[in-house]
Amino acid sequence: MDKKTIVVLFGGRSSEHEISCKSAVTILQAIDPAEYDSKIVGITRDGHWILVNAMEDIVNGSWEKGTVTAVLSPDCTRKELICREAEAYWHIPVDVVFPVLHGRNGEDGTVQGLLELAGLPYVGCGLMASALGMDKLYAKQIVGLLGIAQAAYVPVQKEALAQMDLVVAKIESRLSYPVFVKPANAGSSRGISKAHNREELEAALLEAANHDERLLAEETIVGRELECAVLGGKEAKASGIGEIITATEFYDYDSKYTDTNSRTVIDPELPAGIADKIREAAVAVFHALNGYGLARVDFFLEEKRNRIVFNEINTLPGFTNISMYPMLWKAQGMDIHKLVARQIELAYERRKQGRI
Ligand SMILES: Nc1ncnc2c1ncn2[C@@H]1O[C@H](COP(=O)(O)OP(=O)(O)OP(=O)(O)O)[C@@H](O)[C@H]1O
Ligand SMILES: [Mg+2]
Repeated sequence: MDKKTIVVLFGGRSSEHEISCKSAVTILQAIDPAEYDSKIVGITRDGHWILVNAMEDIVNGSWEKGTVTAVLSPDCTRKELICREAEAYWHIPVDVVFPVLHGRNGEDGTVQGLLELAGLPYVGCGLMASALGMDKLYAKQIVGLLGIAQAAYVPVQKEALAQMDLVVAKIESRLSYPVFVKPANAGSSRGISKAHNREELEAALLEAANHDERLLAEETIVGRELECAVLGGKEAKASGIGEIITATEFYDYDSKYTDTNSRTVIDPELPAGIADKIREAAVAVFHALNGYGLARVDFFLEEKRNRIVFNEINTLPGFTNISMYPMLWKAQGMDIHKLVARQIELAYERRKQGRI
């Protein structure tokens, strides 16, 4: 059988650029070279699409200086990468794409829209599930319909901050301190703060407004942070449970990627019935958003009421060597090679079903 060509698309303009580089390395190492010829395309922080020679160039960071441009054609009759170096053009036929992009432009349906136009099978959720999952406000509205508990919240439009007193009064009338303030779309804790009083709330709202036009203020849930991986299409399955134990006040960007005091535990001790409730809720959320392929769904186990509370869904969770998503499947006997192979297979299955 002829080898298929897979494009691994990584980097990107989002705040999660670096994590995407690490995820791409994990995925490239896991792709079976007997079945797939990997073409690596990196998107720089400025938005240049670059054809990367080898995985090692991602590890040492030299890829960003590459001189060959490579873009995916949106012309579905072509199914190709169009490459250019100086005045020379050529093309590389493409079979399937693994968009290893986290956050804006990668996890929010944008690149998925391009891949739909290109008529190429691609790994992960489609345009709509990606867009809804990335947006904390829309995701909450949909999850609310499922009857799954979530933190009480107040949506805020950036323009409303011109009358800060009114916004603060509304939040204070509905929530008590401390409150979390988040941009609806950001990712990796960027623009998120925990406000303990009015002064901090105002600063938190202004900070979140630097990241998005739509924000939310949210009740603080005191409890444990538990995550569940989902894999598959209509018959999607949930993994076991992973727990995040942080040393800082919340699981912010530094504690996620640099702080060694934060750790993850797979299949932690939990009160009876909680793991199954999380697994069920994770799959329900995945389907409600029209998920496909993969997602990680994050919950709290609220201390005082011993109940699970939905926090968020990530349609392209981290794939670094210390990321929860691959670790949760490894604990189920599916190593990274099998996991990546299954994800690529699912991309083909989805294309056959004509799902968007
Ligand atoms: N309502 C809340 N109550 C208590 N802690 C919260 C609450 N919301 C967020 N946190 C803390 O802040 C962290 C980051 O918030 P959240 O998961 O909503 O955004 P995010 O991490 O930016 O999104 P992503 O995981 O896609 O990168 C959580 O992991 C948790 O530690
Ligand atoms: Mg999170």
